[in-house]
Amino acid sequence: MAFADGVRSVVLRYAKAAILTDGEAPELVITLADEHYPLLVDLHYRLWREHDLIERFAVMRNTGDAPIRLEQTLSALWHLPLDETYRLRTLGGRWGGEFQISEVSVPLGKQIIESRRGITSAHANPWFGIDRNGSASETHGDVWFGALAYSGNWKIVVERNAYGQTMVAGGIHDFDHTWKLDAGESFTTPSFVAGFTAEGYGDASRLLHRYQLDVVMPRSTASTLLPVLYNSWYVTEFDVNFENQAAAARKAADLGVELFVMDDGWFGVRDDDTSGLGDWSVDKRKFPAGLTPLIEYVNSLGMEFGIWVEPEMVNVQSDLYARHPDWIYYFPTRPRSESRNQLVLNFGRADVQAFVLSFMHELLSNHKIRFVKWDMNRSFSEPGYPDAEDGREREVWVRHVQGLYRIFAELREVHPQVMFESCSSGGGRVDLGILRYVEDFWMSDNVDPLDNLLMYEGYSMAYAPKAKMMWVNDAFHWTNRSPSLTFRFHQAMTGALGVGANLLRWNAEEMAEAREHIATYKRIRPIVQHGRLYRLASLRQGDWAAFQYVSADATETVVLVFLHASRYGASRRWLRLQGLAPDAQYRIEGAETVLSGAALMARGVQIELRGDLQSTLLHLKRL
Ligand code: DGJ
Repeated sequence: MAFADGVRSVVLRYAKAAILTDGEAPELVITLADEHYPLLVDLHYRLWREHDLIERFAVMRNTGDAPIRLEQTLSALWHLPLDETYRLRTLGGRWGGEFQISEVSVPLGKQIIESRRGITSAHANPWFGIDRNGSASETHGDVWFGALAYSGNWKIVVERNAYGQTMVAGGIHDFDHTWKLDAGESFTTPSFVAGFTAEGYGDASRLLHRYQLDVVMPRSTASTLLPVLYNSWYVTEFDVNFENQAAAARKAADLGVELFVMDDGWFGVRDDDTSGLGDWSVDKRKFPAGLTPLIEYVNSLGMEFGIWVEPEMVNVQSDLYARHPDWIYYFPTRPRSESRNQLVLNFGRADVQAFVLSFMHELLSNHKIRFVKWDMNRSFSEPGYPDAEDGREREVWVRHVQGLYRIFAELREVHPQVMFESCSSGGGRVDLGILRYVEDFWMSDNVDPLDNLLMYEGYSMAYAPKAKMMWVNDAFHWTNRSPSLTFRFHQAMTGALGVGANLLRWNAEEMAEAREHIATYKRIRPIVQHGRLYRLASLRQGDWAAFQYVSADATETVVLVFLHASRYGASRRWLRLQGLAPDAQYRIEGAETVLSGAALMARGVQIELRGDLQSTLLHLKRL
């Protein structure tokens, strides 16, 4: 931080405290004041009692008449008990391999997880879990955990010093970051939510999931069920037209799909990824009469219609770029580096925001669109803004995110009937900040179901099952595996269900099987989307993965069990369930077996699977 006279030292003293009770949750606000300069810092602690979480953010206020330069604007610093050694668990990976769990003993010094890509990033996710030296499991042990509600450059620093202190700091990244706080202005950091449980990583996840369902997710759909969707991307790619979308839609409707989503390729001149981004008018070569005939056709089949956009981007080959080459981030003397042939629009600019809002309003007002897949397919490179006000050049990173949130807020307000999906080449923008504006996350472009089970284990450490969108597919170029339709469905049914396969190639038997899976999913959907998740078995520790969902009142439970590969004959295991009422009796649907909750949790159910990539689904109901 620096004051107008060049002083770079801050001396904050306690000024006052207040408890606010008029919001959704009680909030303690501690105000600190600089001893000498007109700077106030409000530390907000919002207490989510029912979720056992604390949300912390800070507001910096300039009450004087000269600017103050902020250089580090972290959201919170959490202290762990003294004189312990800890293990840190993080989520990271890459495109097509998001949410891999990694663990490291917290070393002396600093361990940093971060994104400097402009977006949340697939390489690291703003969540942490810490336990005492690896002593916590899914069900036992002390776990400290937290997640940042931010979709731009972020960092979480875990520090252990030689005095036995361990701390976790987190917030907006200080890399290339300054913020000019003019007279009378204030700056609010994103929220950093954190908690503690003595009952292992499973409970830590459930606390975060419940908080997301009850507090974070858009209120309009938080308690309604997300539809089963179909997405045409892997089938038609950019080659979309009325005929091929209508043909896919007929098949999808026949399966019981409720929402048909047309992906990339419907606008501008967009025959591949080299052109068209920025030109958001319907391509008349592909849809001579516009989108309405397709939407009406989809509606006539009993489905809602959804569409893909990537508003933060522009191709050099586009009318938009020809008109506004200065709307992107660039330095005049440096190359304008392209990635996937595209450049990032400067969302901090008011004219860019107005442009995006105007084409989105037009699209959503003139068409019966119920779902928007909002994509973002590259990281930032040269973050220049030559027209930025003096001293505000480095604000681009934060202003981009603020612009994005502002646009989402307005779109949701003006078009309350529209749901949104956050996609960034898969799971590159999955965080609690964007979750306030979207119904779901596209978890990964890698749709291989076995890889997905591993990613889902990591994803679900932090994020609610309901927000995980994955499609049942039939091409697995990432891994070249050939899983059965059942395995693919069961895997995709662990969250919000989608289908992305080429249905025109499915035979009558496959269609019938898929129809049955979708009908089953609709029966279990309330438990999967709104219940509590228990991770019963992990592919990281063996050949099995199992995810159990329990309804809020524990009257129903669903278990999805997966086997990677049989070894040495039959693969059998007892799966001990969790979260049931011990004294209640439960019947396994489709079987005569009745067992008490206590027996199901102490002894379990025996599962036998044989072969490679096998799976089964159990649905138990309380008598
Ligand atoms: C990347 C996304 O992750 C895909 O699902 C698809 O929407 C493509 N972009 C379209 O360009």
